[in-house]
Amino acid sequence: MASRIPILPCRTLRRHLRLPITLPALTQTRPISAFGYEQAKALVFSKHGDPPNEVLKLHTHSISPAHSNLLTIRFLAAPINPADINQIQGVYPSKPVFTTGLGTAEPVAVGGNEGVAEVISVGDKVSSLKRGDWVIMRSPSFGTWRTHAQTSEDQLLKIDKTGITPVQAGTVSVNPITAWRMLKDFVSLQEGDWFIQNGANSAVGMAAIQLAKTWGYKSINVVRDRTHGLDELKQKLKDLGATEVITDTELKDVDFKSRVKKWTQGNPIKLGLNCVGGNQAFTMAKSLGDDAHFVTYGAMSKKPFSLPAGLLIFKNIRFDGFWVSRWGAQNPEEKAQTVQNVLELYKQGKFELGPLNEIPWDWETKEKDLVDAVSGTFQDYRPGKGIFVFGKT
Ligand SMILES: NC(=O)c1ccc[n+]([C@@H]2O[C@H](COP(=O)([O-])OP(=O)(O)OC[C@H]3O[C@@H](n4cnc5c(N)ncnc54)[C@H](OP(=O)(O)O)[C@@H]3O)[C@@H](O)[C@H]2O)c1
Repeated sequence: MASRIPILPCRTLRRHLRLPITLPALTQTRPISAFGYEQAKALVFSKHGDPPNEVLKLHTHSISPAHSNLLTIRFLAAPINPADINQIQGVYPSKPVFTTGLGTAEPVAVGGNEGVAEVISVGDKVSSLKRGDWVIMRSPSFGTWRTHAQTSEDQLLKIDKTGITPVQAGTVSVNPITAWRMLKDFVSLQEGDWFIQNGANSAVGMAAIQLAKTWGYKSINVVRDRTHGLDELKQKLKDLGATEVITDTELKDVDFKSRVKKWTQGNPIKLGLNCVGGNQAFTMAKSLGDDAHFVTYGAMSKKPFSLPAGLLIFKNIRFDGFWVSRWGAQNPEEKAQTVQNVLELYKQGKFELGPLNEIPWDWETKEKDLVDAVSGTFQDYRPGKGIFVFGKT
């Protein structure tokens, strides 16, 4: 014990300066908060990089007591979405905020855009949130891959946590909302109407399948061909509510057109949702009926696609894009309502999560385990989306 005594003044000083605190080698659990300070860890990067493991670091810091209009939150769950990786690579339009506010020598940004957190303390001027509330982020670039954060209430949206798990709440604000808005905002689909989508086993794709089932829409779902697990994947999507599931190889088959005619009984496909781009998107667009909309929201193949003039001239197909970040910024109340609507569907048992790879994040979790989990996101045919699930850190 004697050897630890000289550390104390230094730790106190470092807390007041909001500098990272070096723990004594034998102390592996999170230090008890002193004077209301929270000890926190965050996955940060000081410059863009690809792959992310070249730039991501686990940073330890302390957070001063909540005061005035500030509140302190403790994260419960935060997914690793493709956009988070693009942001670290420096190729995403939503730019992260680089700051020295976490006590680093050079400015850093915290990774992650989506997540759910619990309010653990509030300043005296905070009026709309209280200890124990669950919150999600109103805007992207918050930096959600961290155990704790201090922020103001205008950055947060309170959600009704009754009957909801942290993982459901932590993944509600991006992918299900994207699927919901794309199915509702471009064409007026009626019960029995058809849409087609690629990337059907993505989180957005699976959300679209389930929402369509709830609303009575019929869907043709394209997934990538694979050597293992294709039948199981097709069955899984059908169980969720997909009407038809085909591979990208089947999409290119000469008999695809006649299969579509048989499935739809000649009714037009009114909407296409494009997650992939490239030739797959081109072929899919050709299956649409007159006046249909083709909405691009992802580019997983990283390939552009060409638009045949005939689709524009003779079929009057509209090619649109959708970005949930822009839509959410322009429609904050509608976004809050859509989040609430999806949470209601969870409670009614009409919506379920796709496969997830839960990555426990406790105080002792090693930097390498967290960083490796992020880097695995663009691995081909991965079994589930990564999501950090925080212990009582
Ligand atoms: N515009 C928006 O507002 C918005 C909102 C949410 C998401 N997104 C975008 O939507 C896309 C999907 O996101 P997510 O979170 O739903 O995805 P996810 O759950 O992480 O799944 C990734 C999907 O992409 C497929 N994929 C991976 N590499 C591919 C490739 N080279 N070619 C074709 N398909 C490939 C995967 O298929 P396999 O199983 O075959 O690997 C899987 O279906 C991403 O591009 C994301 O940025 C956009």
